[in-house]
Amino acid sequence: MNDNHILQMKQSTGFQDSMPQENVVIYIKDLHKSFGDNHVLSGFNMKLTRGENLVVMGKSGSGKSVMIKCLVGLMEADSGYIEVMGKEVSTLSQETLDILRADIGFLFQGSALYDSMTVRENLEFPLRRHKNKLGNIVDTTPMVMEALENVGLAHAIDLMPSELSGGMKRRVALARTLILKPKVILYDEPTSGLDPITAKEIIGLMRSIQKKYNTSSLIITHDVDCARVISERMILLVDGINYAEGTYEELLKSQDPKVEAFFKK
Ligand SMILES: Nc1ncnc2c1ncn2[C@@H]1O[C@H](COP(=O)(O)OP(=O)(O)OP(=O)(O)O)[C@@H](O)[C@H]1O
Ligand SMILES: [Mg+2]
Repeated sequence: MNDNHILQMKQSTGFQDSMPQENVVIYIKDLHKSFGDNHVLSGFNMKLTRGENLVVMGKSGSGKSVMIKCLVGLMEADSGYIEVMGKEVSTLSQETLDILRADIGFLFQGSALYDSMTVRENLEFPLRRHKNKLGNIVDTTPMVMEALENVGLAHAIDLMPSELSGGMKRRVALARTLILKPKVILYDEPTSGLDPITAKEIIGLMRSIQKKYNTSSLIITHDVDCARVISERMILLVDGINYAEGTYEELLKSQDPKVEAFFKK
């Protein structure tokens, strides 16, 4: 497949449509975000469909985290349209945004556990924030245990983050993301800083979670191996735009130097 095909694929993904279709869970159109003269995003488009694993790759500083922060309303875009599960993010009140966020699992870059809290307390934290997800449940222990069992760490429930390895911390962070049973999970560099074997374990967990709960996943990474294993579709973020799109195999065959650069070891 040549680069014209990639361009065609990009054009055929329907960004020219003004409104997303029903099975689209995240829709970003023409997103712009600058910091002074630093034009980070300059017309980025993205669509995540239900049940899909979409990988967005871009080199360090290309704006991946900025994009994901705009997506969840942690950062305000300069312009563009962002819709998450049928709701336009920029129009939502803080309250509605909070309710929406309960359906979006966000695994932050790094693990971002609270160091002063035990594993159990870290997992209970989102439950306390999103009380509506609890219903009549008083004892949260079974929920905490289920989330920890999903990542193979039930035995670590009473440990402090300082007692965990990097890989274990990442797994606890993943469990904390899962505890609210999100419909969409956003992973920001889920394997960064991990050795290849631990990275593989995390990728394995991401896959099993997706199967078990049928979540849609947006995975931000510059780990080519992670992208190869997990992606059904990929977007390369270059120069502030969705520069190329396709499956891993399609992009791997590209002769565009900016695309090739991603796959050179
Ligand atoms: N709050 C901010 N204020 C000013 N500049 C910012 C801010 N957040 C991000 N930037 C700038 O935006 C650019 C993109 O940053 P971002 O964190 O999105 O990169 P990234 O693609 O996630 O990189 P990495 O792979 O290293 O995580 C960088 O030049 C960064 O300095
Ligand atoms: Mg980042």
